[in-house]
Amino acid sequence: MILKNKDVLGLESLEADEILGVLEIASRFRAVFDRPVRNVPIMRGRTVVNFFHEPSTRTRISFELAEKRLSADIVNFSAANSSFKKGETLRDTAENLAAMKIDMLVVRHSSPGSARYLAQVLDCSVINAGDGAHEHPTQGLLDIMTMRQRLGDLRGRKVTIIGDIAHSRVARSNIWGLTKLGAEVTLCGPPTMVPGALERMGVVVEYDLHRAVADADVLNVLRIQLERGAGKTFPGNREYHRMYGITEDIVRGLKPEAFILHPGPMNRDVEIAGEVADGPRQVILDQVANGVAVRMALIYLLSGGDPGALGGSDKG
Ligand code: NCD
Repeated sequence: MILKNKDVLGLESLEADEILGVLEIASRFRAVFDRPVRNVPIMRGRTVVNFFHEPSTRTRISFELAEKRLSADIVNFSAANSSFKKGETLRDTAENLAAMKIDMLVVRHSSPGSARYLAQVLDCSVINAGDGAHEHPTQGLLDIMTMRQRLGDLRGRKVTIIGDIAHSRVARSNIWGLTKLGAEVTLCGPPTMVPGALERMGVVVEYDLHRAVADADVLNVLRIQLERGAGKTFPGNREYHRMYGITEDIVRGLKPEAFILHPGPMNRDVEIAGEVADGPRQVILDQVANGVAVRMALIYLLSGGDPGALGGSDKG
């Protein structure tokens, strides 16, 4: 059994061997992508509800594609046209979902802890697709998968996460996952966005960008989360770009094999220069492709899929 619990709520609650087990299954699904027929009938007759209470493009499409490629029946539920507008509570929604007998719930919500709450009140499996600034475990897993495809074992590898760490669920999931796998994590950004207390998570905090990236193997560049109030923590986009933006100049100072991740959506020319976002060091579309594979793996494993039944894997 690769996953010990019925839900995936964060990388804090997954052990290193669970993370590696999921990534192994994900790499087998990734190998299916290059075949002319990409669908497998594993989830036929099972219903997955995608419950998105916050805007999302990539993550929602990625989950939907993963579910479709596993042949699940899908119901999409977005807050914009739901009873939330009429004042329904999360608990009432949960009870209604339970009564409708679904097999799995994928939830994105602006409140930290909302996925855990739903996991407690529902018998079905719950996957957290991002809960406020808390965790975004599938993004953490797809980032780690992308890093391992290039670097193999991450023990002793240096990963620098840059940007609005305080508001970032992506950063938190990356920190948990990467440190469990033995990577050395450095956080960098303006002091207003990178609280020094984060060092308690077993990472280094470095406010000087040049020093933070000098010997990094990987840069994970985060979006400035304007919708979570980040605009108040720095003087302006131009100022941020000058101090912490990943520019061609910064790239020239990196180790020759170092590469760059960004979870999307990007603020071009704020946290990352347009040329870098389109340049040879970025692996952003690998991340997107791996995202579908990671989500297929989680859905497969949570619904009782047999890890041995999938055949050989590609690298990663
Ligand atoms: C992230 C998110 O929503 O947390 N995006 C994503 O899922 N691809 C990061 C972000 O919004 O900046």
